[in-house]
Amino acid sequence: MLETVPLWFENDRLYILDQTRLPNEEVTEELTTKEDVWDAIKKLKVRGAPAIGVCAAYGLYIAAKDFCPYPDSVCGDMNNSKRFGCHREENVRKFLAFIKETADYINSSRPTAVNLSWALKRMVKKVEGVVEAGEIITVKGMKNLLREEAIKIHEEDVAACMAMGEYGLELLKPGMGVLTHCNAGTIATSKYGTCLAPIHLGQERGYGFRMFCDETRPLLQGARLTSWELVKNGVDTTLICDNMASIVMKNGWIDAVVVGCDRMAANGDGANKIGTSGVAILAREYGIPFYMFVPTSTIDLDTPTGSDIPIELREGDEIKNMWYEKPMAPEGAKTYNPAFDVTDHKYITAVVTEKGIVRPPYDVNLRKIVEG
Ligand code: MRU
Repeated sequence: MLETVPLWFENDRLYILDQTRLPNEEVTEELTTKEDVWDAIKKLKVRGAPAIGVCAAYGLYIAAKDFCPYPDSVCGDMNNSKRFGCHREENVRKFLAFIKETADYINSSRPTAVNLSWALKRMVKKVEGVVEAGEIITVKGMKNLLREEAIKIHEEDVAACMAMGEYGLELLKPGMGVLTHCNAGTIATSKYGTCLAPIHLGQERGYGFRMFCDETRPLLQGARLTSWELVKNGVDTTLICDNMASIVMKNGWIDAVVVGCDRMAANGDGANKIGTSGVAILAREYGIPFYMFVPTSTIDLDTPTGSDIPIELREGDEIKNMWYEKPMAPEGAKTYNPAFDVTDHKYITAVVTEKGIVRPPYDVNLRKIVEG
């Protein structure tokens, strides 16, 4: 099994693999402040809905671990509750306010992937819960709770990806040609991936999948990341430009499409990397099943339909200049650069979650699986 991961927590420190440097360099970076975390998520050093959520959870702990209600003190021991009375209600409240403010700040880095706000809300709720319940707790105790919760979110995501891999294999047969868009692989999650988990698992079990990766303009997650991780794991990998998806389908080379998701609304509409909805429409035309892999942490029952999902708009420079030696468009040309689009639920053959495979009607069955 592929061992590559996008981030790890070791000796109370948070490290990431800088994905903007892939596939040419594997560079590790330590995130030590909330600004580091915000920047890493904004710039897509860490990316992919589940990985962003896990990074934010650890990031909140990292930002909080040195919090001291007496910042001007010279004690140097941030956790010295006896000396500074960090158990006092006033200080506990101060800490909680700091956590909420920091969570809001990290959450402002990217708007579409719901895992970001989901993980941060869960972290805040954990400490808020003990304060509200009136349990005796110190600032140090709250920090420990944050660390434990972040580790839990991380471990649960690994388990969810494994489970999605197994469910995904129920839908795929050995030797199939499978097309994917963007990167919903091991480096977009804690490990294994969402829609690439069955591909990595299948590789271990001799399934011999033939993978087709859309390059995924404008940030090339398919070329730089998906084909990198698939080749690294020995999977048969063919890279195509986004506008070639139709011809490979028409050629009869594609038996299934698998993609990830950044936020699925309650009715089953799913936001994923820009270009996904076009692939889904093509798949319908050619009679190819289209599977969206969506951990329950990515299902947002508070968002009724895809039209309610906020779509991130990014700089036009990513289209005009980013990968070229010279600008590839005149300065006067305007740009429109949405990072995601929404695939209408009617094009989604099945939604694969860690709790099982969900079929239409999604408005009923998604709720059942999330709340069940
Ligand atoms: O902008 P990105 O690279 O963070 O977009 C990621 C995607 O759209 C992925 O396909 C999605 O997050 C699913 S990741 C398991």
